[in-house]
Amino acid sequence: MATTTESAEASPIGRKTPRVDGPLKVSGKARYASDFHFPGLLYAVPVEATIANGRVTRIDASVAEQMPGVRAILHRENIGRIFRSVAGQGFEGVIDERRPPFEDDVVRYYGQYIALAVADTFEAAKAAADSVRVNYSRDKHNVETDLKADDEPEIVQTTFAKSPRVQSHRGNPDAAFESAPVKLDQTYVTPVTTHNPIELHATTATWDGTTLTLYEASQAVFNHRGVIAQMFGLPQERVRVITQFLGSGFGGKLWPWTHSSLAAAAALKLNRPIKLVVSRRMMFQTVGHRPRTQQRVRLGATPDGKLVSLHHEYVTHKAILDYYHEDCGEATPFHYSVPNLHVAFGRASRNVGSPTAMRGPGAVPGLYATESAMNELADQLKIDPVQLRILNEPKLDESLGIPFSSRHYLECLSLGAEKFGWAKRTPGIGSMKQDGLVLGWGMAGCAWVAARFPASASVYLRDDGTARVACGTQDIGTGTYTILAQLLAEKTGVSLDKIEVILGDTSLPEGPVSGGSMVTGSLVPAVFEAAGNAVTSLLALATSAPGSPFAKRKPDELALGGGKVFIKADGAATGVSFADVLKRANVRMVTGSGKSEGSFGNPKPKFSTHSFGCHFVEITWQPEIARLRVGRVVTVIDAGRILNPLAGRNQIEGAVVMGIGMGLLEHTTYDPQNGAPINSNLADYMVAVNADVPPIDVHFLNYPDKEINELGARGIGEIGLAGVAAAITAAVHHATGVRVRELPVKIEHLLV
Ligand code: MOS
Repeated sequence: MATTTESAEASPIGRKTPRVDGPLKVSGKARYASDFHFPGLLYAVPVEATIANGRVTRIDASVAEQMPGVRAILHRENIGRIFRSVAGQGFEGVIDERRPPFEDDVVRYYGQYIALAVADTFEAAKAAADSVRVNYSRDKHNVETDLKADDEPEIVQTTFAKSPRVQSHRGNPDAAFESAPVKLDQTYVTPVTTHNPIELHATTATWDGTTLTLYEASQAVFNHRGVIAQMFGLPQERVRVITQFLGSGFGGKLWPWTHSSLAAAAALKLNRPIKLVVSRRMMFQTVGHRPRTQQRVRLGATPDGKLVSLHHEYVTHKAILDYYHEDCGEATPFHYSVPNLHVAFGRASRNVGSPTAMRGPGAVPGLYATESAMNELADQLKIDPVQLRILNEPKLDESLGIPFSSRHYLECLSLGAEKFGWAKRTPGIGSMKQDGLVLGWGMAGCAWVAARFPASASVYLRDDGTARVACGTQDIGTGTYTILAQLLAEKTGVSLDKIEVILGDTSLPEGPVSGGSMVTGSLVPAVFEAAGNAVTSLLALATSAPGSPFAKRKPDELALGGGKVFIKADGAATGVSFADVLKRANVRMVTGSGKSEGSFGNPKPKFSTHSFGCHFVEITWQPEIARLRVGRVVTVIDAGRILNPLAGRNQIEGAVVMGIGMGLLEHTTYDPQNGAPINSNLADYMVAVNADVPPIDVHFLNYPDKEINELGARGIGEIGLAGVAAAITAAVHHATGVRVRELPVKIEHLLV
């Protein structure tokens, strides 16, 4: 294992660094989208459709309009024009639900917004929204869970790529499977799950006659600006989107949703600031979810455990008008060595709001299926599941025919097995017991793509000894403020408490979307270049300013370290603080900007860049009272160099907790009667809470991946969720003998 660098020079990189924004958050000073207040602010509450398919035949707002404090009831007849947005280059027009609100009178899912009440108070707006009378003509809706692909799924530009129906293919998989000595053919199902960040979606919109400003809960302010500019026909420079803090998003806040354009429309129309907070119930209807997936996996193998074929064919549901693609086959083509492979998908239209990316989109449900199949194959062959994976370790990315930049999956497996004590596992069902409980042990691997998005940043060094780094990316809650401070400290030696980090504003240099686990990796080169350019400016000033102690020197004889400018030949101890250099020159600050290219989506990469890992899970089972718990988890992650092990561990632990929810608790259920998500609240939609969480032992391998950036950091936000559910279901089988292939595992499954 590579060692962590905690050198004597006290580099901030690789050090456990508490959140620099922690004090703001715990003292309530961090402002989220709904925390912005303005004089004259009005509150908006949407009116939701109470059918899942049909038409609005009449909206009667006459009662609502007369209610005290009500300023307007906006609907299709009076809201004005809202245009469709079209994806441009990169992230500047990406949206999941492409139909603008109120565009037609058709209702395509329960909860679709059909009107908007605006009033002086939230209570008045809510009462007015409830008093709008709506008549419908109803059609039969379809929220069936059993999915069969639509005949010809339209091939369109999706969020990330053009999606062919056949996603990956090599060799002759049908023949190889047919003649394989050992076969496995199973279907795995994951239910609809709903993003439940603590912070509700919200928009506070202001219009000053020139600029439309949105205080938004967004994981991608620049894309949001692009969409809103298009929807209202405004030039981009007259739209500003601000997201200073996010109470997480899990992918649900990547792309704009209709409440945001409604808030903007109301601000423009009424010329007043508007606040619209999506309710927890609406969060289940109008701001995305992970779609249901049905995944058939067929494995062909030799008796000694070598894979000869792999079929992964899946169907997911989609909304009527939209084409979000849950890319379940994301990791399948490269994860294991197999000469014959077929990955294909289809989509089934349903009367639901558009699904969208949720933490580890595609790979998380996909790896649940393929890793479950690997575990079943191991049992069928009577080979240890860790050993089966070792036997099928690829030498290169067989789907692209190129090497991995840095893959240490086998070391993840061996370290995880060692830390967990896997060697003590006895394979017999229910054969392991402890303190009167049956133990089940299971494991699974995981992978997640690594790449960079384009990024830019600016750096100031100021005459009071402080420094500032700014970038129009967001901190979704993962620690981006802290990482940027660490990067600038690394490059300048300015201490963290003297560094200001500014994020989440389209008036800043354009930054990456807080998605794909790519922010840190993308920002390293941009921030380093910006800092380097500010330092170059500083050193030039040090040699040119009249009276400077370095007046006779050349800039390249000098360096900045520990916050001091010094002559390299004399060593850092002899230096002068950069604040003094600036003060003597009567310069308030020197600035630098930096930019780096993206690598995501590169059609001809030289290396396959991914992170890897594995989970070992112990569950306890009390058959007498049908009590199932996760007892402990060991997780090993190979995500390049870990820049902040504190934030890193926090991400993996959080993801494992979410994995326990995915394995045992989370599922959104649609009421067949009216098509509504029926458990649309946090009492009926269960997420894992502290009482469900066992000790989670997280290990990082810490091998730098220089293909991603000079520090070798990949991303860690998503990978920890992949594989957890497959390890849990394997452990459940080991304890109970019951193979659950439809998540979540319910007690009913085990009462056999
Ligand atoms: Mo993530 S699902 O890329 O926000």
